[in-house]
Amino acid sequence: VVTPGGAIEDGAVVFDDRILYLGPAAGAPSRLEDCGEAVITAGLVDAHTHACWVGSRHAEYAVRMAGGDYRDIAAAGGGIVSTARAIAQASEDDLEQALVARLQRMARMGVTTVEVKSGYGLEPAQEMKQLRAIARAAARSDLPHVVPTFLALHALPKGADRAAFVKRATELVTEAAPLARFVDAYVDENAFTVEEARGVGRAALAAGLGVRLHVGQFADVGGAELCAELGARSADHLEHASDAAIAALARAGTAAVLLPVASFTLGQAPPPVQKLRDAGVPLVVASDANPGTAPTESLPLAMAMAVRLYGLSPAEALDGATHLAARSLDCVDRGHLEVGARADLVVWDLPHEQALVQPWGTPRARHVFRDGVAI
Ligand code: NIG
Ligand code: FE
Repeated sequence: VVTPGGAIEDGAVVFDDRILYLGPAAGAPSRLEDCGEAVITAGLVDAHTHACWVGSRHAEYAVRMAGGDYRDIAAAGGGIVSTARAIAQASEDDLEQALVARLQRMARMGVTTVEVKSGYGLEPAQEMKQLRAIARAAARSDLPHVVPTFLALHALPKGADRAAFVKRATELVTEAAPLARFVDAYVDENAFTVEEARGVGRAALAAGLGVRLHVGQFADVGGAELCAELGARSADHLEHASDAAIAALARAGTAAVLLPVASFTLGQAPPPVQKLRDAGVPLVVASDANPGTAPTESLPLAMAMAVRLYGLSPAEALDGATHLAARSLDCVDRGHLEVGARADLVVWDLPHEQALVQPWGTPRARHVFRDGVAI
């Protein structure tokens, strides 16, 4: 049993919806079920996903794998805007169903909390539809716990007036607030500027929401400094981040959300992980599950890639996909096994917690509990 204080050999967990006992099996206060050879960890927490989408981008994927550039494809009406077209044609029910199916598959991989962003609606009515579909999934107790994020600035719809679009997205933060816990914006070259995202971030804080931003995926345009300025809970991607940006994140206590699947499919060099680590920035690992840059639903795969491509240790990858991820989502009673915490836990068909990052792509969760109930 893996706890923040270290692993307990021959350990036991006793729980209802919260953890009641954690310690040696011999000292447990009730009769136990023997799991045999297994390791028990907190349920995994995926702190960055775009899991509420429909349609398919297989044609674009083939073009990209053959050397096509992600930003050229986006400029030609592919990418985010093509998923937005599919969202516009889908009903709220369709969106809910696609998300629920995805969350169920994530649960089978040991994931018990999932942050889900909107951001494929683009137009206000479509964004609200996407957020309502996310809220429906979030209301269910038989799925991973869902943390909804309003991704206010993701892409400019074709033909839209830039200033008017940004103004409307900023106003929409207040309307979206009852359906979201966080607000996000994509701050990058060919996306949105620091100025544009600042307005959205301030509106989020004024509405009582947290901020998490996509920054530095293609270029460092000052997004990480904006995260620090706004007291964002996370700065996500960070393939391009200056030393000053890293220092600012460390001072602000903003977590870095590493998305190795996305940088892998885009053929990018890793973020400055060693510098982030040295600065004391918490390293969260997430899937980025989306139909464009991160064609996976597997957080264990992202963890494996964080180890292979970014040089995280298996223990760092597990921390980054459990308690550090939960803290970045303000879910302080999830993501760690401690008496009193929510009983979100996984019994893995594995001999050691380090084995979670192997074998790639195979679900090895034997039992998955959220709030003490098998999901
Ligand atoms: O996190 N960077 C922008 N957003 C997504 C990609 C979304 C898409 O291509 O559909 C990302 O990589
Ligand atoms: Fe993303």
